[in-house]
Amino acid sequence: MDSLRGKKILFGVTGSIAAFKAAGWVHSLVKEEAGVSVIMTWAATRFVSELTFSALSGNTVYTDMFADDPEQAMAHITLAQEADIVLVAPATAHTIARLALGMADDLLSTSVLAASGKPVVICPAMNSRMYEHKATQDNLLRLKELDYIIVEPDSGRLACGDEGPGRLPDWAGVREILLECMSSHDLEGQHVLITAGPTREPLDPVRYLSNRSSGKMGYALARTAKRRGAQVTLISGPVCLEPPEGVKVISVTTAEEMYKEVMQNRDNASVIIKAAAVADFRPDQYEFHKIKKQAAELSVNLVKNDDILAELGRSRKEGQFIVGFAAESRDLEEEGKRKLLAKNADLVVVNDISKTESGFDVDTNQVTIISQDGTIHLPLMSKEKTADQIWDNVLFRLEME
Ligand SMILES: Cc1cc2nc3c(=O)[nH]c(=O)nc-3n(C[C@H](O)[C@H](O)[C@H](O)COP(=O)(O)O)c2cc1C
Repeated sequence: MDSLRGKKILFGVTGSIAAFKAAGWVHSLVKEEAGVSVIMTWAATRFVSELTFSALSGNTVYTDMFADDPEQAMAHITLAQEADIVLVAPATAHTIARLALGMADDLLSTSVLAASGKPVVICPAMNSRMYEHKATQDNLLRLKELDYIIVEPDSGRLACGDEGPGRLPDWAGVREILLECMSSHDLEGQHVLITAGPTREPLDPVRYLSNRSSGKMGYALARTAKRRGAQVTLISGPVCLEPPEGVKVISVTTAEEMYKEVMQNRDNASVIIKAAAVADFRPDQYEFHKIKKQAAELSVNLVKNDDILAELGRSRKEGQFIVGFAAESRDLEEEGKRKLLAKNADLVVVNDISKTESGFDVDTNQVTIISQDGTIHLPLMSKEKTADQIWDNVLFRLEME
């Protein structure tokens, strides 16, 4: 699952100074084509107007369990029944206490009870002393026992001027949690090892040889695997991407470092996907001082790096599933098949880098998946969708074994 499109979110807003941030989250959800129904507590309406949320969500905003409107008469039950997930953000200490007790004296608390069996995600936001108070911590513990998903607040400078935990986290991380809650969890029990990004092969203290890989495909594979319940280790070359939430990231620079980390972390991996663009060659010599430009010419001698995929295929652990990537501009299928056999891989995913919207540094990709029993051509789509299709394929084959 790569998007919240079409999902129904019941969004509870409570009386925190961070309530204005919830308006931005509703906007992001609507932009993503999710359906959003907002319930505001009375205190929340003191911070942000109902009009803001109704204009942003395009829906009625609910505040009153005892509204006269006959269409809203059973809202305390129907809103939760219609939702795929409940998100309470920001959640005040007061609302957290009431939910921990199972109270049902307003529309939000009643709806959370009526959502029994559906994922409920709670984002506490408050002054750090309020957050760290034993009463709040005990209440949060109780909410965890009730299987509610608690999103840790960020630390930093708070609206009241104090420093510490209590800030509402960024939307990107919370969105990831919503996606994870609603995913099928079909990779649960799998430990996957993924490599991503380029490597850098240094010439001197300021220069290196590298390639155009952005790491986006490998990071999409890590994010989607985590969402689907896998335990994920990501070995990443230097990239400008946020580390995926809940994924163990090991940063490396050179091909030699990547080789070492892959070999150290491969033993308990059930699936290994080598999406990194590892340099095939490195300068045979590193100059400790910057190379000067006085000379008219400069020759650099290159030596071959160890082939990580070939070594994984050669000495694979029992039951391990190995996927290689190939970036090709022509003869995609032939190159993929050659690599599959030469490296003893289970699958090879060939990136078509001849098109501008596929391959390096873009958010979309067009790949061909090659295995012993056939070839699958996938259409151009987002790297996240591509990643999900690759996982579907891996899973299908794991289940056949
Ligand atoms: C200016 C101001 C800011 C507040 N910010 C927070 C906050 O960030 N977190 C919190 O737990 N309570 C905060 N409160 C206190 C809550 O608004 C209060 O506990 C209220 O009863 C919460 O009601 P509710 O949980 O039903 O929305 C704030 C109060 C004021 C006056």
